[in-house]
Amino acid sequence: MMKKIAILGSGQVGQVLADGFLKHGYEVMRASREPSKLEGWKATAGAKALIGTFAEAAKWADDVVLAVKGGAAIEAVKLANPANLAGKTVMDTTNPIADAAPVNGVLRFFTDLNESLMERLQKVAPNAHFVKVFSCVGNAFMVNPQLPGGPPTMFICGNDPGAKADVRVVLDQFGWDTADMGAAEAARAIEPLCMLWCIPGLSGKGWTHAFKLLRLP
Ligand SMILES: NC(=O)c1ccc[n+]([C@@H]2O[C@H](COP(=O)([O-])OP(=O)(O)OC[C@H]3O[C@@H](n4cnc5c(N)ncnc54)[C@H](OP(=O)(O)O)[C@@H]3O)[C@@H](O)[C@H]2O)c1
Repeated sequence: MMKKIAILGSGQVGQVLADGFLKHGYEVMRASREPSKLEGWKATAGAKALIGTFAEAAKWADDVVLAVKGGAAIEAVKLANPANLAGKTVMDTTNPIADAAPVNGVLRFFTDLNESLMERLQKVAPNAHFVKVFSCVGNAFMVNPQLPGGPPTMFICGNDPGAKADVRVVLDQFGWDTADMGAAEAARAIEPLCMLWCIPGLSGKGWTHAFKLLRLP
């Protein structure tokens, strides 16, 4: 039986990943503080598409996707209720982007290089199994990206090996090469890849790229 996936986030990332999980046969509940804003999506997304609050979706799900504004991620995890996330894989797409404007195309973060947003989230919900994923590419390429040179690389990290195995299954389905960078602290390096990924776009050179890690076999 296919897993039930909660998508916490009514933005573009939530929509693309919700549609991606539905396409691959999962049941999906999208969540917002105001679920009614997702009625239009539910009406067209089919019988396996549900909507709810952050807490309803987190409780219902087997695995969870966190796709909210970085500055609101801690609040969203609290609204979801850490008890509802205990023992579950939480795919963390968030980036700690500050409200201040970018400088020469370089985003500003509200974290520094010696901590990450995911580590903060892991402290708020210590029994949830956070895995950083989908944070270093634009939403248009998250599901089965078609780029010259084959599947791009998604960098992941997290403390729970089983959760990372769950995420690897999803990334295989979604057409990605997976590079496991280790424990939660590696999010200090993965989250800033979002800055790098956005520089061409914010500098007027387009958003149609993704990272690929080249390695000897
Ligand atoms: N956009 C991309 O292509 C992309 C790519 C990679 C990673 N990301 C990361 O993915 C995340 C989602 O990005 P996005 O562009 O889809 O959406 P977004 O505009 O960054 O976030 C929208 C979501 O944030 C929630 N939110 C905002 N303020 C809140 C608060 N005070 N408390 C609780 N929730 C709050 C909203 O909840 P309501 O539904 O209740 O309004 C909504 O669900 C971000 O962290 C972003 O950095 C984005």
